[in-house]
Amino acid sequence: MTASPRFGFQDTSFKAAGGVEGITRLVDTFYDILNELPQAKIIRAMHADDLQVTRDKLARFLCGWLGGPRLFREKYGTISLTGVHSHLAIGENERDAWLECMRLAIAKQDYSADFSIYLLEQLAVPAERVRVICKRRNTPSA
Ligand code: HEM
Repeated sequence: MTASPRFGFQDTSFKAAGGVEGITRLVDTFYDILNELPQAKIIRAMHADDLQVTRDKLARFLCGWLGGPRLFREKYGTISLTGVHSHLAIGENERDAWLECMRLAIAKQDYSADFSIYLLEQLAVPAERVRVICKRRNTPSA
């Protein structure tokens, strides 16, 4: 299935993701999975023990990124995605582990099939960008 033209303009994606509540649920599920999934161990270790602030940051970031309110900027100021990851050793394995956690988290939401596919495809874009930046600066495992 290809990406649906029903998403990706104005706040269509934000709404399809369930607004602030839905995105908060998605991010909570994502970090719960990241905590447990064996292949995510390597990226879990990159995070602080307490994920509370990280959960809040990712949820707020995704609200704006999906065309909703800019909640990250409201609380934490401006963000450069490549900047906040550039000190990390993120290679293909780490990128794929992150995306796998997202895939599983998305599957647990009540999203339509076409939005689920669309969202994962969209998230793969910054995930790859993060990998490329990190590869230039650090030595990831792959
Ligand atoms: C490619 C795989 C990725 C890995 C392994 C990864 C890992 C991390 C880690 C370890 C942190 C720091 C958390 C902490 O300080 O406890 C972080 C922060 C963050 N990540 Fe990622 N990340 C990835 C991709 C992404 C993508 C694709 C997005 C957005 C679509 C994203 C959004 C964020 C945000 C918003 C923060 C908070 C930044 C801040 O501290 O201000 N990450 N990530």
